[in-house]
Parts: sequence; structure tokens; C-alpha cells
Amino acid sequence: MHFDNILISRQGRIQYITINRESKLNALNKATLAELHFAFTDAFANPEVGGIIITGAGPKAFIAGADISEFTTLDANSGRQMAFEAHTKVFDVIANGSKPVIAAVNGFALGGGLETAMACHIRVASDNAKLGLPELTLGIIPGYGGTQRLTQLVGKGKAMEMIMTSDMITAQDAFNFGLVNHVVSPAELLPKAEEIMNKILKRAPLAIASAITAVNAATSSSGFATEIDEFSKCTGTNDFKEGAAAFLEKRPAVFIGK
Ligand code: COA
Repeated sequence: MHFDNILISRQGRIQYITINRESKLNALNKATLAELHFAFTDAFANPEVGGIIITGAGPKAFIAGADISEFTTLDANSGRQMAFEAHTKVFDVIANGSKPVIAAVNGFALGGGLETAMACHIRVASDNAKLGLPELTLGIIPGYGGTQRLTQLVGKGKAMEMIMTSDMITAQDAFNFGLVNHVVSPAELLPKAEEIMNKILKRAPLAIASAITAVNAATSSSGFATEIDEFSKCTGTNDFKEGAAAFLEKRPAVFIGK
């Protein structure tokens, strides 16, 4: 497959996947999600790959969320379809992969960006990273697993606050809440991710795969289906149309509860 939105490279047994839409802060449009599906499926199947490190191009963003410019035509049906496909083809593929995936969070990790990082098995953040789930500012809820994975990582109270306020938090706060495993300087970000990955890659590959499966079983949740239902409901509202339009027109949204 030819990639327009991501870069793939390999050093030794580590596969690097870099979201490469720097001018849009690496926002996840449909084409990027399709490329991520292919890239992760391929990496998990390739015997030469031991583990994957995912990061964003440029100094500013890991991923600033789903691409809001693609939201203008969404309704309840297509919203459900979009969330379901992203869950099954990208986020669950990463989370349930047979090889370790480390997110190197090099800046904004918002919405679908934080959801990507949370689907990974381990997160390392640079000290300038900002993390959050700002979907409610757009009139929707997180639809790529965020309501479940944030709750699993930081607990219900903090997840409720982060999701309902839509506030971004610093990398240091994310570390304090258990949302990221390590915080380092931007220069140390990839070396730290590589150090962790190289240690894991010395362990037995079949046991690594079993560890991922077993740890995931500890937090398996039927809440993902509820998230897709509620996301779909939100994409059918007037407030969602207003939220997406307001972002694209660079103005504050005015919500009316309809
Ligand atoms: N979808 C589409 N485009 C996005 C985007 C997204 N999620 N996030 C950023 N962009 C685009 C901007 O529209 C802008 O494009 P333009 O130069 O063509 O106008 C470009 O990326 C740079 O973003 P900008 O907003 O100018 O940068 P900033 O430094 O002022 O602000 C953010 C950075 C991350 C705070 C801001 O871009 C933002 O709030 N993004 C949306 C985050 C979000 O709500 N994500 C959840 C989506 S479900």
C-alpha cells in the first residue's frame, strides 16, 4: 500500500509509524485511519517486526484529534459507522495486537490523538505535551474508545472531569494520574521509548503476546458499544453541527441543547 499520511521505517526489530500531516497537527482523517489499519495489521503479521513505536511528525503535535473538517456531513448513522469502523479497524487492532506498541507523545494528544495513545500498550510523553478529550466542545463525546480507556487508566472521577470539562492537562499531570508512563524532554522522547521497547524485545515473544491478551482481559468492557451508541446520538444533534462549524470558522460554539 502507498502511504500519503503516515511514514513507516524500521530500525532493527522496531517499526516506526509516524503520522505525517504536520500542517493539520496530524489530525486523523479517514485516509490516515485506513493507512493506520494497514500499517498496524502489516506490522503485527511481519515476523521481522518485534514492536511498534508510533509518534507524530513535527514538534507540535502527536495527533490533534479526528479531522474536524470531515465532520460537516456526519449524521447519527454515519457517526455510528465512523466510530464502529475506527474501533474495529484501528483502535482495537492496536490494543489487541500481538506485539508491544509504544506511543511517543510529542505534543498535543487530543481527542482521537489521546485515544490513539491510550490504545497503545505504553505511553511516553515529552514534557511539552498537552493531553485531553475536548470532544464535548464540539457537541459530541469521545468515540474512538476514550470514555472506556481513560476511565481504565485514570479512574472514573478524573475521567469524568477531563471529559466533561474538555480541559487539556500537562504531561506531568498525565504522569501523576497514570495516563502516561514516563515524561522526558523532547530530545529524550524516542530514546526513552526505544529503551523500553528494547528491554521488552529481550523477553519471549509468545509470552509478550500472552501478557497483552491477559492484561487486556483485566479491563475488557462492554462499555465500548455504549460509547458508539452515545457518539451516534450526539452526531445526530444540532449542537454537533454547531460545534464542528464553530471550530472550522474559528469562533466559540453556542450550544442550545438540541
Ligand atoms: N481537525 C482538523 N484540523 C485541525 C485539527 C483537527 N482536529 N486540529 C488542528 N487542525 C488544523 C487547524 O484547523 C489549522 O489548520 P489551518 O492552518 O488550515 O487553519 C492547523 O491544524 C493548525 O491548528 P491551529 O488551531 O491553528 O493551531 P493552534 O496552535 O492555534 O491550536 C490546538 C492548536 C490543538 C489547540 C487546536 O488546533 C485545536 O483545538 N484543535 C482541535 C482539537 C480537537 O478538538 N480535537 C478533537 C477532535 S474530535
